[in-house]
Amino acid sequence: MKRVAILTSGGDAPGMNAAIRACVRYGLYKDFDVYGIERGYQGLIDNNINRMTTRSVSDTVQRGGTILRTARCLEFQELEGQQKAADTLKAYGIENLIVIGGDGSFRGAKDLAENCGIKVVGIPGTIDNDLAYTDYTLGFDTSVNTVVSAINNLRDTMTSHDRVSLLEVMGRRCGDIALYAGIAGGAEFILVPEVNYDLDEICQTIKFSQKKGKTSNMIIFAEGAGNRDEVCKYIEQKTGVSIKTTTLGHIQRGGAPSMADRVLAAKMAVRAIDILDEGKTVNRLIGIKENKIIDVDINEGLSQKRVFDEKLYNIAHYLSL
Ligand code: ADP
Ligand code: F6P
Repeated sequence: MKRVAILTSGGDAPGMNAAIRACVRYGLYKDFDVYGIERGYQGLIDNNINRMTTRSVSDTVQRGGTILRTARCLEFQELEGQQKAADTLKAYGIENLIVIGGDGSFRGAKDLAENCGIKVVGIPGTIDNDLAYTDYTLGFDTSVNTVVSAINNLRDTMTSHDRVSLLEVMGRRCGDIALYAGIAGGAEFILVPEVNYDLDEICQTIKFSQKKGKTSNMIIFAEGAGNRDEVCKYIEQKTGVSIKTTTLGHIQRGGAPSMADRVLAAKMAVRAIDILDEGKTVNRLIGIKENKIIDVDINEGLSQKRVFDEKLYNIAHYLSL
């Protein structure tokens, strides 16, 4: 009997449920017995495993979060934890595991494959869009749309009062949320961890734009782009403006997944099941490159270096002038 288990791990992301649902239903269609692991690798260690049917995933495609729940699990980073996790799968006769998560979760999957012989496939689920081998990860589109909606709301009130606004968004090491939301929301300044910025230049631009009759200035600040409070203080002192700051926080991790994330989840899940069903290659990561679903070897996928889209960053700059 073909058996596959599914887990979600690391930070949750909108579209994870759509991916779980598609794995379950397409897996059943392909004659797999399908199992759901609760709370990621922790659940695998703790034997939190349930058989899934087509009804287990009813009414979930439109929901954010993850019905399988998620966790961060230190024990799994050690070989002993990985062996306990693999023993759970082996006790159920399960040799295939689909991991929906980000970079850390995939490193865990790689360990499980290399150290314990489990066949793994990764589906990228993280709002950060910080995986090099794929153009997009599940949850990124939804999250960016949430940020754009926040920018729209802020812009209304900022324009009414001639104010400067700073919106802090998620992204400790990756500025993609800030970049894409900044372009879509017409932000004047986008500060990200990947690009050095010149605060004096920003101050000059703000002063100049106000003289020219600009009624609001929006700064999108990725959480890893430096010390937000110091940045605000510096700009306020140099320009005399008062900055209104907003931290969007976990609001940008929840909510109904966008159409793009749901469709991407369906396509990626189908590729994941097909790979396991065909069994020709094992230990793969699913992605999307130039609008085509791809799969790459897990080692190769994890060793690729992320390249920040400087071209897009420059476009954002030209459009803000
Ligand atoms: P994400 O998958 O969103 O990047 P984390 O980095 O928090 O999230 O990783 C999720 C979980 O994956 C961790 O709690 C841990 O159990 C496992 N993990 C992360 N890094 C490794 C690693 N290098 N080796 C083994 N397991 C790891
Ligand atoms: O990786 C997803 C993410 O939302 C990051 O953007 C953010 O830095 C981090 O997780 C927040 O983690 P936590 O929910 O543990 O505070």
